Formats: sequence, structure tokens, C-alpha cells
Amino acid sequence: MPATVIIGGQWGDEGKGRVVDYHARNCSIIARYSAGTNAGHTIVNDRGHFALHLVPAGIFYGDKTCVIGKGVVVEPVGLLKELAMLGERGVDTSRLLISDRANVVMPWHPVIDRLDEAFRGEHAIGTTGTGTGPAFTDKVSRNGVRVIDLITPELLAAKLEMVLPYKNRVITELYGGPALDFDTVLREYRAFGEQLAPHVADVDTIVQDAHDAGDRILLEGAQGALLDLDSGTYPYVTSSVPASVAAGASIGIGLGPTAIERVVGVYKAYQTRVGNGPMPTELFGEDADRLRDPAAAQGQGEYGTTTGRSRRCGWFDGVLARYTARLNGVNSVALTRLDVLSQFDSVKVCISYERNGDRVNTLPAALQHQYEVQPVYEELPGWRSDVSGVRSFGDLPANARAFVRRVEQLIGAPVDMISVGPAREQVIVTHDIFGTEL
Ligand code: GDP
Ligand code: IMO
Ligand code: MG
Repeated sequence: MPATVIIGGQWGDEGKGRVVDYHARNCSIIARYSAGTNAGHTIVNDRGHFALHLVPAGIFYGDKTCVIGKGVVVEPVGLLKELAMLGERGVDTSRLLISDRANVVMPWHPVIDRLDEAFRGEHAIGTTGTGTGPAFTDKVSRNGVRVIDLITPELLAAKLEMVLPYKNRVITELYGGPALDFDTVLREYRAFGEQLAPHVADVDTIVQDAHDAGDRILLEGAQGALLDLDSGTYPYVTSSVPASVAAGASIGIGLGPTAIERVVGVYKAYQTRVGNGPMPTELFGEDADRLRDPAAAQGQGEYGTTTGRSRRCGWFDGVLARYTARLNGVNSVALTRLDVLSQFDSVKVCISYERNGDRVNTLPAALQHQYEVQPVYEELPGWRSDVSGVRSFGDLPANARAFVRRVEQLIGAPVDMISVGPAREQVIVTHDIFGTEL
């Protein structure tokens, strides 16, 4: 059975977690394939309100296998906390599998993440400080510690003997920080390895066997395509290898690209961005505040799930939406947080940019500052009514339907799902992508 990838079409936090939570019912395996604890996926369902950073959003269904693929960097302290939190709240995590090939976020990674950011000064990226970027850097430079090392005491000791002196020199001699102690790190990380060992498996083979057997596989993206290392607003991007774009799913989980049939692009009905970097449609002042803290407060306001930072807000950017849809091969769209726009008399969508008098319809490679391009807006009439209880497209106000259709046109792929509130059931399904009765 072909696999489905769910990706973020903007700068992350589009609502991927809630879309995965919804579709997981129709799948056997739900897998994360990239990133680390920099991701924060919110799920609101009959079990409550959850923020997940590493565990796939399919964990709430008792009969599903949830997988952390080799493309993820596993932060053991955060993962163990997440498993404990889920356990305390009655969620069974025994069906979670972690790839033995995944790289591990070690204690020097968050330290170096923060020191690197301080060193960058006014050019800081605004990272999550979780050590995710430095862990991917070490993976690529072949200094990484992998899960198989973590759970094998002699391999862990050998890795630490090689890597820790090098990392301590960076921390102490480049940055003047305190060195990490070999014995403490070895003891603590051996203990983490022991606790995680029951979940560790050759995930590639398990997923490949399931695929061969005809099982449905749902691949849960993290971040958004505009944060992608190769295609995003570099250098204000994340460091995940494989990438945050859909093609990365194939690498990060160990299935060939022909296994992927469907790419669901999750887009918010407006833009948000947390961290630094250009955002052409960014708003300041009252409209930004209204997007960030909607009076109806259906969900949380726009504050980072991982860091609690305030998210920058702006109007829907059709130029970037089209750009990410094409990059990912999006053939189905989930449009989220439509309810948040109900408070405006009119809403804007960016349909093009202007640069030195010319029209620009894609993301320029050298865009460092958003004032280098001016968004060209189309203004659409608002609908000024609460849509959070609407469950069918025909019951949306006509102006809300017109907005959805315009966004669909700009993205260039069909909107199959619209969400109107944070809870699992607050969705309008216009086309059931798995073709089963709902
Ligand atoms: P992710 O990283 O893509 O999974 O998204 P996050 O969980 O970081 O951020 C999305 C936020 O929007 C969370 O607080 C969700 O609970 C919330 N949310 C998702 N869909 C909707 C929606 O349709 N309406 C409202 N009001 N909130 C939503
Ligand atoms: P989810 O999966 C939003 C952003 C950070 C920063 C940049 C680099 O929840 O959508 P990093 O710590 O990755 O080196 O930071 O990337 N970032 C995200 N923003 N949602 C995310 O994940 C993000 N993951 C990283 O804010 O700007
Ligand atoms: Mg998030």
C-alpha cells in the first residue's frame, strides 16, 4: 500500500500534529522521519491536550505502531519525559519503535546550540536551543553517536572517548565554557540507553515489511518547507538531514520514493514564523495581535509549542504556498485555523511580490530581509461569524468558502480538509483521502 506524507507548507506549526492525529485511524504505521525535539506537535483529542516533540501523533490509537525513523535525532532526556508523561496520562507507548540507526542528541549539543547562537550575535537564527542543529551537524561530519551506540555500553564508551575531548575543546577553548565530565556523561547516557533499549529496533526492515504486506504508512513531517535546509529561507532554516520536504520522508524512514503516493500539505489560513529570518507578509500592530491572540481563543494563541516564544504573524502568502506545494509535490491540502480569520471584516492574501518595479512569483534565493520584496495583496471580504462548529463545506459562510477556493487556487492543489478549531472533531472533510466511511 502506498505511503502518505504529511508536511508543513510554511514555517512550521501549521497543525501537522492534529492532521496526523486525525488520519492515523486509517493507517497501521505512523512514523516521524526527520528533525528532533525542535518540533512541537499539539494534539487535542478525547484523551486531552498533548504537546509531542518526538513521539508520533498516532500514539493515541492502541492498535497502531509508532515509529521514530533513522532520519530523526533522538534526545533521550526529552523522549523519556515524553514517554513518562504519556504513561501517566494512560496512553500506551509499548508500540513505539526507535530506529537503531538514528543519531542521538548528546549533552554537548544544546550547550553548543546556545553558544553558537550567542556567537552569531545580530545574525542569530533564533534556534529552539534544543541541540537539534548541532546534532545534525555532527551526523553529517561523522561525529555522531547513534542509538545503537547508546544501547551498547562498549560502543558508547568508545564513541565518547573519540568525540567528547573534541567537543570539550570547542566548548572551553572556542567559547570559554565549562567542560563536560566523561564519567558523568557515560553513566547518565548508559542509563538512558538501558531505559530506551526495549523500544529500539531495525525500523527500516519493519517498515519495509509492512509496506510489502500492504499496510498503510503515514509519515509525519516536522517543521515546514520554508525551514528546509536546501529550499527554505537560508540561513534562517533548520538543519535536518534528511530534509523537512516530502522527499526527505523516503530517506528518513527507509522506503524508496516510489512508495509515496500522496503528499498532504498542511497550510495555515495565514502565516506564522517563530525565530528570525524574512517573512514578507509579516504584520505588526493590531492585526498581528488579533491573529496571535484571537478573541474567541478557540485554541492556544500563536506561541511556540517547544519554546513558548511568541510567533510572528502575517497574511497568507500565496507565492510561498505555491513554491512549497511544487517543491513537495503536494496533491492534497489541509487548511488549518480558518476559525481565526472569522474576526476580520476583510482578509488579505498575497498573490505576488514586487521587487524594484518587477513582479516576482517565487522565493528569491538571496532574500535576507523581507523589505527586499513588497507583497501584492488581494483583499477578500470577511465572514464575521463563528465557524468553529461547522462540519460541512456547504455550511460555511459564502465568503469563507470563497476564501478557501482562492487559497486552493494559489496553492495549486485541492483542499481536502479544513480545520476550524484545535480538537480532533473540529474538521470539515471535503474529500476523504483514504476513501473510508467517516
Ligand atoms: P504543528 O507543529 O504543525 O503540529 O503545529 P503546532 O501544534 O505547533 O501549532 C498548531 C497550533 O494550532 C496548536 O496550538 C493547535 O492546537 C492549534 N490548532 C490546530 N488546528 C487549529 C484550528 O483549526 N483552529 C484553531 N483555533 N487552532 C488550531
Ligand atoms: P514543528 O514541527 C516552527 C525554527 C526555529 C528557528 C529555526 C532553527 O513544530 O512545525 P532549530 O532549533 O531547528 O535549529 O531552529 O527553525 N523551527 C521551527 N519553527 N515549528 C517547528 O517545528 C520548528 N522547528 C524549528 O524556531 O527559527
Ligand atoms: Mg509545532
